Amino acid sequence: MKISSAEFVMSNSDVAKCPKDKLPEYAFIGRSNVGKSSLINMLTDRKSLAKTSGRPGKTQLINHFIINKNWFLVDLPGYGYARVSKSSKKVFQKFITSYFSKRIQLVSAFVLIDCRHEPQKIDLEFMQWLGENEIPFSIIFTKADKLTKTKLPIQIENYIKEMLNYWEEMPTYFVTSSSSGLGKEEVLSYISDINTQLKKS
Ligand code: GTP
Ligand code: MG
Repeated sequence: MKISSAEFVMSNSDVAKCPKDKLPEYAFIGRSNVGKSSLINMLTDRKSLAKTSGRPGKTQLINHFIINKNWFLVDLPGYGYARVSKSSKKVFQKFITSYFSKRIQLVSAFVLIDCRHEPQKIDLEFMQWLGENEIPFSIIFTKADKLTKTKLPIQIENYIKEMLNYWEEMPTYFVTSSSSGLGKEEVLSYISDINTQLKKS
């Protein structure tokens, strides 16, 4: 899919104030620093459409970006960010869960996992929660450039093994790198195929 336009629309802490349009949307979620905002920039070929930082906790709001004037990408704050105070952590978590349970325009979530790390409880629990709430999601393994060609498939295989302890089958997954552009076409055609299906229905 060719991205001919990608524009920031608005930031919100309240799901009720998100765009009223009925356009399909896709949201990026995962631990702080996993690379959600960087991935949005990589997919859209825009250097700083979404704000990124080496320090966790950069994205703090629900950010809508309109793509090709007919669908949305949504950048969300990370979960599991330990450096915020307990009370503000609760606010994060609450508006994240409220976004996912209330946003009817959401077509699918992308749960981002840093491919270097062993399966983390918080990610497994979040996917469990999505499952229980019948929210469709796929997985994106990020930062593939940080592993060697031999280590990368081993890490992914380990993750799949762990997932199969809880899931009947492995959800659709992608392996990406925001530095090299790996996985870009795969993620974009996945979205494009769903958008086409939705137009037909
Ligand atoms: P929060 O907004 O804090 O939740 O973080 P985020 O998930 O949006 O992460 P962000 O995109 O800001 O990236 C965090 C750091 O990881 C930045 O320093 C990025 O440059 C780096 N990074 C993100 N993706 C990649 C990648 O694919 N490869 C490499 N090498 N670095 C990456
Ligand atoms: Mg971010």
